[in-house]
Amino acid sequence: MGEYTTKQYNVKDIVPGMTIGKPVVGVNGRVILGEGIILSERIIDQLANWGIHTIDIQELNQTVTAHVKELECYAKKTQNNYEKSLESLKTYFEQTRRYKKISVASMRELSSKSIEQMVNTPGIISFLLMLERKDDYTFHHSLNVAILSGVLGKWLGVGGQDLKDLIFAGLLHDTGKTMVDIDILNKPTKLSKKEFEIVRYHPILGYELLRETQDLPEAVRLGVLQHHERMDGSGYPLSLSGGQIHYFAKIIAIVDIYDAMTSDRVYQTKLDPFSVIETLASEMFGKIDAEFCTIFLQNISNYLTGKFMRLSDGRIAEVVYYDNVAYRRPIVRTDDNEFIDLNKNKALEISEVIDV
Ligand SMILES: [Fe+2]
Repeated sequence: MGEYTTKQYNVKDIVPGMTIGKPVVGVNGRVILGEGIILSERIIDQLANWGIHTIDIQELNQTVTAHVKELECYAKKTQNNYEKSLESLKTYFEQTRRYKKISVASMRELSSKSIEQMVNTPGIISFLLMLERKDDYTFHHSLNVAILSGVLGKWLGVGGQDLKDLIFAGLLHDTGKTMVDIDILNKPTKLSKKEFEIVRYHPILGYELLRETQDLPEAVRLGVLQHHERMDGSGYPLSLSGGQIHYFAKIIAIVDIYDAMTSDRVYQTKLDPFSVIETLASEMFGKIDAEFCTIFLQNISNYLTGKFMRLSDGRIAEVVYYDNVAYRRPIVRTDDNEFIDLNKNKALEISEVIDV
């Protein structure tokens, strides 16, 4: 990314994630590692064997600031698109609540225009993580699940009309909640057994709302009906397991859990993305599709590398290396140029994502 300055580091101070600024030459005079290579733990372990004592490392400079500005511009456009989509969605959901009928054509248009555009926007994952959600959890959540279903679908190689249908299923996944009393949905205290049963009925209500609609692929209906089913049969409403669950529903289930955990809700404050990754990884055993989830987690963790976070001591830091084994504990570079391995320094935590 353009020009940069370099600083010489002693090998013992090198940590994974640092980028080589000048070619590393071995004792025989040959280049062992080229400029621009990101150092991994494996390479670092080899350095002493190769007789390397110092390495020139790339330092942050003005180019990075310019890049961040460019991304901010993207973020503004996305913000506008997101807010407009949210308003439309609110109107359509309110109409569904009032007339007990979904305006499928209008929602399809919202999905294929604005939402597909957001699926293809660079930086959309960070945008959603940084999003200030006002009230109305269900609207934000439906929009986010639609976007994230599309993003995960793309990572899994879903394309063409299937991808469009998947995004649409994500948008409609909780549409059955429009048939549930608002006071129950927004109740800040624990639900009674009866209220709990009513809420758990929403996938069937959504499926029924869509049953009358012509020209709607069955995959969309199944995505809605089965999004709370779990691989081990512990889900609802039909206690389906593994192979009985449509892949749309498996994808929606993963992003549904992810979005719920990354948002502030009446009864829960949002978690940082590293805790969310950790939770999803443990849910993966038995409950959600392991293959899909692995791809989701790999992409999300790659995505978080290079992003800026606020640490619990208030400093801003860039994630430079993220080791899948040590969930939640990446190596970061602070704004005062200190490299910290959070896996070793347990006193510090990541408190929020601040990158665009
Ligand atoms: Fe749901």
